[in-house]
Amino acid sequence: MRMRRKRNLEPRLEACSDILAARGVPMKDLKKAAEEYRALFDYSELFGNGNAVRLEIGCGNGGFVLEAARREPDINFLAVEIISNVIVTAMERIKKEDVKNVRFLNVPAEVLPCFIPEKSVERIYLNFSTPLPGSTHARQRLTSPRFLVIYRELLKEGGTIVQKTDSEDFFDYSIEQFLLNGFAVEEVTRDLHNSDAAKDNIVTEYERQFAGQGKPIFRLVARLNRMEGSE
Ligand SMILES: C[S@@+](CC[C@H](N)C(=O)[O-])C[C@H]1O[C@@H](n2cnc3c(N)ncnc32)[C@H](O)[C@@H]1O
Repeated sequence: MRMRRKRNLEPRLEACSDILAARGVPMKDLKKAAEEYRALFDYSELFGNGNAVRLEIGCGNGGFVLEAARREPDINFLAVEIISNVIVTAMERIKKEDVKNVRFLNVPAEVLPCFIPEKSVERIYLNFSTPLPGSTHARQRLTSPRFLVIYRELLKEGGTIVQKTDSEDFFDYSIEQFLLNGFAVEEVTRDLHNSDAAKDNIVTEYERQFAGQGKPIFRLVARLNRMEGSE
């Protein structure tokens, strides 16, 4: 179902411009975009401190990043969401709650290297990314090889990706892709809500829906392998 454009979307986005760090880069050709629009963040300017940085891709309405940022005020969070109509809600919640350690990017994940310096992120969260079953849209899956190349570039040595999903097929696909593309896969659970990890889990909006339908939640941690020759 197509979502109706929110009333006063542009003024509402504008009212959040102090926490909106990037918006609307064309994504036809990543290489071209990276050359033309490269505007790498200076984190001390963006957050006013030198704290570690984590990234959520596909933040939706922002429930996860809001709670994560509250729990860990000494971590800086970047939240990425392609749809303006959706990210505006996330930004308004962060402002309303006066949470200081979150900035937003209203761009497709494909262009993140235009903004995020290499090896500057300690963790990436992929919460309930669209599974896109079948082969037609496989390239759009956020754990397809073309995205894993990007994450490898952005993550620090030993950095991690934490993935949650309700789709077993997407989960198995992701494990396969992580292993083929320079990551070790750890902490795999196929029933998060009935596991030891449940007590620290932050339930996202989609997760609440899926769990409410009785679906098990899958979770893993993918750790960037050390490069040969590094210390
Ligand atoms: C299924 S929703 C999950 C939302 C939220 N993470 C949750 O768990 O409730 C996936 C979100 O990812 C966003 N998304 C999908 N592909 C994206 C991309 N390439 N770049 C940025 N955001 C993307 C979608 O617009 C959507 O809001």
